[in-house]
Amino acid sequence: MRLRKVKNLEKRMERLEHLLLKKKTIRFKEVFGNGNPVIAEFGIGRGEFLLEMARRRPEKNFFGVERVDSVLLQAMEKVEKETNIRYLLANVEDLEGVIPENSLSGLFLNFSDPWPKKKNRKRRLTHREYLELYDIWLQENSQVQLKTDSPILFTSSIEEISQSGHLLEDVTLNIEESPAYEDNIRTEYEERFTAQGHPIYALRFRSKKVKS
Ligand SMILES: C[S@@+](CC[C@H](N)C(=O)[O-])C[C@H]1O[C@@H](n2cnc3c(N)ncnc32)[C@H](O)[C@@H]1O
Repeated sequence: MRLRKVKNLEKRMERLEHLLLKKKTIRFKEVFGNGNPVIAEFGIGRGEFLLEMARRRPEKNFFGVERVDSVLLQAMEKVEKETNIRYLLANVEDLEGVIPENSLSGLFLNFSDPWPKKKNRKRRLTHREYLELYDIWLQENSQVQLKTDSPILFTSSIEEISQSGHLLEDVTLNIEESPAYEDNIRTEYEERFTAQGHPIYALRFRSKKVKS
């Protein structure tokens, strides 16, 4: 994500405080004022995808996490009347204890940073340590969806997901040709890569609970 210097960042963030959650244990029912299912996206960038989801699915709540403040601000400034969307400025790796157990009903990972060097593979959002966290945060059998243009991230995700005992679904090397994604909403990065002629890879898997 190319970073632009943003003027009056703090003031503009303050104005949108009602959309921004604090980095402490989140009580989603209180936040949204209802018990509707909560769907998350980690690494929302400028947020078009999640906002479009919120517009199409008013019966669900949407929760976006982004670690760069100037980027998150641009996402929040797009919100108009939607009441079913909230944001958190954070790195996903710091969210243990912030997102409650079994509080999420779905998760999107869209064009997550691929971290191509092997020494950085633990930072990929589909590394097994993240998958363990997702299994804690997600209700059992919730859907996680990954889209990427990166063969490295895609291949390593398939390995991590299957080696950690999750069942892969709807794996495709070209989202445009897969009926499983016919209602696909393109993200900002996806628009860019598609225009450049790159195929978009996608997969889904289901969260599981460790049985004691
Ligand atoms: C390549 S961009 C993709 C943005 C958007 N999802 C899209 O598809 O257009 C990745 C975004 O994820 C954010 N990000 C990467 N790792 C993150 C992490 N660990 N926690 C929170 N945000 C993260 C980056 O700051 C960046 O905005």
